[in-house]
Amino acid sequence: MGKQISQKNVQDEIEKLRHDIRRYKHSYFTLDSPIISDPEYDQLFRRLQNLEIQHPELITPDSPTQERSGAKPLKAFSEVKHALPMLSLDNAFNEDEVVDFDCRVHERLGVEGDIDYICEPKFDGLAISLLYEKGVFQQGATRGDGVTGEDVTQNLRTIHSIPLHLRGADVPAVLEVRGEVYMPKAGFEELNKEAGRKGTKLFVNPRNAAAGSLRQLDSHITASRPLAFFCYGVGLVNGKFSKDTQSSILEQLKKWGLPVNPLIEVVKGINGCLNFFHNTAKKRPHLSYDIDGVVYKVNRLALQERLGFVTRAPRWALAHKFPAQEEFTTLEAVDFQVGRTGAITPVARLKPVFVGGVTVSNATLHNMDEIKEKDLRIGDIVVVRRAGDVIPEVVKAIEERRPAHAKKIALPTQCPVCHSAIEQIEGEAVARCPAGLYCPAQRKEAIKHFASRRAMDIEGLGDKLVEQLVDEKLVKNIADLYSLKLDVLADLERMGEKSAQNLLDQFEKGKTTTFARFLYALGIREVGEATAKILARHFGNLQTLYTATEDDLQETPDIGPVVAKHITHFFKETHNREIIEKLVQSGIHWEEVKRPQKSALSGKTFVLTGTLEQMTRDQAKDRLENVGAKVSDSVSKKTDYVVAGSEPGSKLAKAEKLGVKILTETDFLKLLQGLSS
Ligand code: IVH
Repeated sequence: MGKQISQKNVQDEIEKLRHDIRRYKHSYFTLDSPIISDPEYDQLFRRLQNLEIQHPELITPDSPTQERSGAKPLKAFSEVKHALPMLSLDNAFNEDEVVDFDCRVHERLGVEGDIDYICEPKFDGLAISLLYEKGVFQQGATRGDGVTGEDVTQNLRTIHSIPLHLRGADVPAVLEVRGEVYMPKAGFEELNKEAGRKGTKLFVNPRNAAAGSLRQLDSHITASRPLAFFCYGVGLVNGKFSKDTQSSILEQLKKWGLPVNPLIEVVKGINGCLNFFHNTAKKRPHLSYDIDGVVYKVNRLALQERLGFVTRAPRWALAHKFPAQEEFTTLEAVDFQVGRTGAITPVARLKPVFVGGVTVSNATLHNMDEIKEKDLRIGDIVVVRRAGDVIPEVVKAIEERRPAHAKKIALPTQCPVCHSAIEQIEGEAVARCPAGLYCPAQRKEAIKHFASRRAMDIEGLGDKLVEQLVDEKLVKNIADLYSLKLDVLADLERMGEKSAQNLLDQFEKGKTTTFARFLYALGIREVGEATAKILARHFGNLQTLYTATEDDLQETPDIGPVVAKHITHFFKETHNREIIEKLVQSGIHWEEVKRPQKSALSGKTFVLTGTLEQMTRDQAKDRLENVGAKVSDSVSKKTDYVVAGSEPGSKLAKAEKLGVKILTETDFLKLLQGLSS
């Protein structure tokens, strides 16, 4: 009786797994819109395989484990039956699984010593078969379910890297080339930018964009998409063809004009493979196309033949995948954080998920517009992306998997820290807490900014310490920092007398600064480092800046009406002036700023191009600005001089065309010296 119940449970689980797997395959292969991650899918597939191994009596011919893989081709394209099936690859997600693979290869072949493997990038696009007869491209097909694919010949003909005629007299009569069609990253970005402008649907990633582009019924559309191709093998071949090693096959294909990836390498043994994996992972962010791992293949074809195939994949090859850059997880909550300027930022709290090599549990959602646009709800299954060192991002919610209890996200009416009523200005994406420095959150952020490396650079005043100082009400504003006493600091958590003294020493050291750094440290809205430098150079001291009007400010380069308003507003506040005076009284000082002198070059516009030998570009810029000249990035009719260092760019050519006066570095130095003599 007990056995029957468990048999029934197993049967139910198997049926559910098959049903789910079919649904996920359909979304992935047919719709190009996956709703589950590869590892989650693999786990389900493996679970089904294991149950069927334990209960072979429950295997049915229509189980996904019995099919090859993929879905039926879309009706609109005609079908192509592959002369030889297009196989898939087994995956490894860690080094242990690579070691197991190498052991299996050794065991099956009964050989010792290092095997020669060819290592290839695993291109993240879609598999394609190209049929050449007497060197002429005849037919191209997608992989489809591995046995039957779709005839996409017309579309493939539009891809520049697919040759329509092969070069050389020794091309076999029939040659089927296999490889991957992909979309370069830059082309993908461009395509999505355009879709954004037109308001059409965005593609999730370059692979989906490539698949979508190749499956267009109108090949004109495909032709307008930036697609490319790399080959990685052959299918059916009739005629003279040396099938000695995978590397020699690729060499022949390359000789005939087919694109072979330049990173491919033949290595010795598993160590060679793992080195290739690590080196390729390092190169990955700099490649112009997406790869999602590397592929190891036994290089000798005689050995490949002895190893043979299992149902879906060859025993002589393995895909070693990089940690996924996109994963699925649950959006558990959304918190609202208060920034330095009061901006309220929604932050996604995620069920921790390993993506792009790190565990991600938070991601900024920027503002309410983004939440609305992506239609995110609490409880949703979302796609999280983290590529390279890029900050993690919530890409989208999977609507098909939205739970019934999913909750809409609303902007709070009160600041989560000081409870002031939140302001949302019409037309602005960002909502704000208007309480300024009365809000402890903004106070903390203002102090953190003041102490930061590019501002006052107070080493040792880290975020945690700032939070303690504000929470314990020891510091209300940046000026209070300088009246902190040794015993008070020493009593703080994780401090002690020595650290406290070190911190006081750092405060002292930081009192010598520059006017530009000081202005930046004040945290005036919209005043970044560059604007602070301009203000310092132009106004020279605090008194002049206090009395500057919006018009005065707008006369300086790069300061527009909005920034000018923020600046005058800041200096008008008595409270801010009091703090500044206190800071100066506590000993913060800077060398007097050299105001631009009136000179023969005052008001002249310079453009710098190429490398200068005697000074950096920044130094050249400083020297010019000190004599009242302006430095611009691009050449126009208004440019007075172009200074051309070695290897100048297109700016020199443009200057020549416009008849702008060109100076060599020596001419330039002479001109500057002439001014001071
Ligand atoms: S060889 C019998 N080499 O990965 C071996 N495949 O997961 C068949 N892929 O369908 C494939 N880069 O679309 C091979 N260097 C490479 C590859 C590669 C990407 C794709 C291909 C295949 C899939 C299997």
